[in-house]
Amino acid sequence: MEKTDFTDKDTYQEIFDPHAYCNIYYDPKSGLLVVDGFLDFALRKLCEAFTIRGVKGKTLIDIGHGPTIYQDLSACEAFEEIIGADYTDRNREYYERSLRNEPGTFDWTKVIQKVCDLEGKGMTVEEKRKKLLNTVKKTLKCDVLKSNPMEPLILPKVDCVMSLGCLECACSDLDTYRQVLKNVSSLIKIGGYLIVSEILNCSSYLLGGKRFSCLALTEDFMRSAITETGFAIVDLEVIPRKYDKEQYELCNHDSSLFVVARKERNV
Ligand SMILES: C[S@@+](CC[C@H](N)C(=O)[O-])C[C@H]1O[C@@H](n2cnc3c(N)ncnc32)[C@H](O)[C@@H]1O
Repeated sequence: MEKTDFTDKDTYQEIFDPHAYCNIYYDPKSGLLVVDGFLDFALRKLCEAFTIRGVKGKTLIDIGHGPTIYQDLSACEAFEEIIGADYTDRNREYYERSLRNEPGTFDWTKVIQKVCDLEGKGMTVEEKRKKLLNTVKKTLKCDVLKSNPMEPLILPKVDCVMSLGCLECACSDLDTYRQVLKNVSSLIKIGGYLIVSEILNCSSYLLGGKRFSCLALTEDFMRSAITETGFAIVDLEVIPRKYDKEQYELCNHDSSLFVVARKERNV
């Protein structure tokens, strides 16, 4: 595959289409991240993180939520409040509309049902929707490339920052990724948690006829970068993806990673 030029945040702001992204990547039957097993993997690992791994507290920041809400469905059971954060206005607006389940937004019903089943507390889809809506207090503009990603706001340090599929999009190279981990870590209390999930060895993904760059990450790099940023890894799992020519042309990762890490020190 040809090399894709780095897709910067302003390109995300201008052309990233929230609804098209959800349809292509999360459609219950054909979504690329459904077919490759990523979504089920992420839902299971998130449920584990907020139950058996004991990640809980007052505030969780979900950085780079994009247009999706699946990642907050278990988090809202373990945190008093969730603050969303993303660079693009369109994604923040779409995320808020999805929380309210507004007409014209992606239908997450099947995913919500799956999370209710995983959690096994007998919660209904409607109860889960309400819980999520009540727990996400707001979503803020953020830029993970800044030393304080929430600039100009200075937020009190939180118990957990979670970021799924964002940092590898935001970074042009591995040194920047290391720096971005530091930036994000500055938002977390000592003893608090970082939850990161990324697709691995991916160079680009297709959306609306445009190729978006993705920084190619490996498990080894992630282990060392997270540890060097002052975290102790609590849980790390990688799942492989089967090769399929057509699907790899859309997005060419070969595996997915999920990690929970506890902040031990400031670096
Ligand atoms: C591929 S989407 C991830 C969507 C979603 N989290 C998921 O799991 O499918 C990448 C997200 O990263 C955001 N992003 C890109 N650069 C960023 C930056 N510098 N700071 C914050 N968010 C950024 C984009 O706006 C987009 O919402």
